[in-house]
Amino acid sequence: MRGKFITFEGVDGAGKSTHVEWFANELRSSGRAVLVTREPGGSQLAEKLRDLVLHEPMDAVTETLLMFTARDDHLKKCILPALSAGTWVVCDRFTDATFAYQGGGKGVDAGLIDSLAKVVHSGTHPDCTLVFDCPYEVSRERMAKSGRALDRFEREGQAFFERVRNAYLATARTEPGRVRVVDSTLTLEAIRAELRSVINGL
Ligand code: TMP
Repeated sequence: MRGKFITFEGVDGAGKSTHVEWFANELRSSGRAVLVTREPGGSQLAEKLRDLVLHEPMDAVTETLLMFTARDDHLKKCILPALSAGTWVVCDRFTDATFAYQGGGKGVDAGLIDSLAKVVHSGTHPDCTLVFDCPYEVSRERMAKSGRALDRFEREGQAFFERVRNAYLATARTEPGRVRVVDSTLTLEAIRAELRSVINGL
């Protein structure tokens, strides 16, 4: 049987990556084979493109095309073979991020993103998406605490952050059956309880 495809999304600093491994381990402990991966990246070529797209200044359309180039390779080499083998795939970001960051954040035409998604996905869509949400101030505080160097997207200001956040929340309103918003300002225990209930519903 085909595996399920679960994506983790959200604004920078919402702490989603902290929850990915825990979520995958919960799935593993219930007997499922799980692949944890990320975008941009996940395959050898896509990881090289990630380095470019996160650090090299470029136009928003160029950025969009590179995101989908990376995604195409990642899907063909990692995600689709895993799903076909019955492995569940937990992916840290996917196409909802392109709609939020390049579409919402940078004003790239949603029609262009949609067309690229149709070609590249060729029918594969996440079964379930968790959007980790938090206010700007919380995001900044967490990123400052992490002490690591920020990439091009994380260096954007509050207005960009709010556009990205609103785009994610709009997607969640449009597709409530697939997309669930997780309030990442809740305690770790409360978030894990929510994630457990998501797993039980899969
Ligand atoms: P990460 O911080 O979750 O590893 O993601 C790296 C950055 O890439 C993050 O700031 C969001 C951005 N991004 C896009 O702008 N568009 C996309 O399609 C994806 C997958 C990520």
